[in-house]
Amino acid sequence: MKFFVDTADIAEIRELEATGLLDGVTTNPTLIHKSGRKFLEVIEEICGVVDGPVSAEVVALDHETMMKEAEILRKIADNVCIKVPLTIDGLKTCKALTGEGTQVNVTLCFSANQALLAAKAGATFISPFVGRHDDNGFDGLQLIEDIRLIYDNYSFKTEILAASLRHPIHVLDCAKIGADVITAPPAVIKMLSKHVLTDKGLDAFAADWAKTGQTIL
Ligand code: E4P
Repeated sequence: MKFFVDTADIAEIRELEATGLLDGVTTNPTLIHKSGRKFLEVIEEICGVVDGPVSAEVVALDHETMMKEAEILRKIADNVCIKVPLTIDGLKTCKALTGEGTQVNVTLCFSANQALLAAKAGATFISPFVGRHDDNGFDGLQLIEDIRLIYDNYSFKTEILAASLRHPIHVLDCAKIGADVITAPPAVIKMLSKHVLTDKGLDAFAADWAKTGQTIL
């Protein structure tokens, strides 16, 4: 299972990259806005830090303009993955770009039928939004399960990139279902390492070690 981080905060990306656990980065216009930085500059900087795919989203709604925006974005670095919305124009753009060997992440997926279309358009990644689905009274994890079933039925190569994950249990359930990739905010990824009994055990070991009066170094 691959781990992507969902942020445009370069300090957070550097910190996670240093763990050796990071496989890629996803961004979106909201995260770029939050970073307060210029879109093209921040994508270039992220691509210099992370070797894996870095999703950069087009903002146009029509195919022709999406292609023009993608042309600028993919020139930034070899690991730029063009993010397109799940619309007919987005799918058309996906088909054209993947046909030219560019990685594409189809985003804002909220149904298994949409995911089926993205796979047929040759998407590298499909991004079903689990948290936003839940927020609206739907079952986000059921969506991941349905897409897994359909992609396995037809051996589609498109990777399921579970997005909009809000907490560690989302990550756990996506791993059980067999999502290929998860993307989550830095805080959620860091939370995965935490357990109250790990902290308690460390405190007890530290206290007993101190009583031995020994040092290793
Ligand atoms: C994924 O690529 C999206 O950027 C992201 O996961 C959206 O998450 P949100 O619903 O928390 O904004």
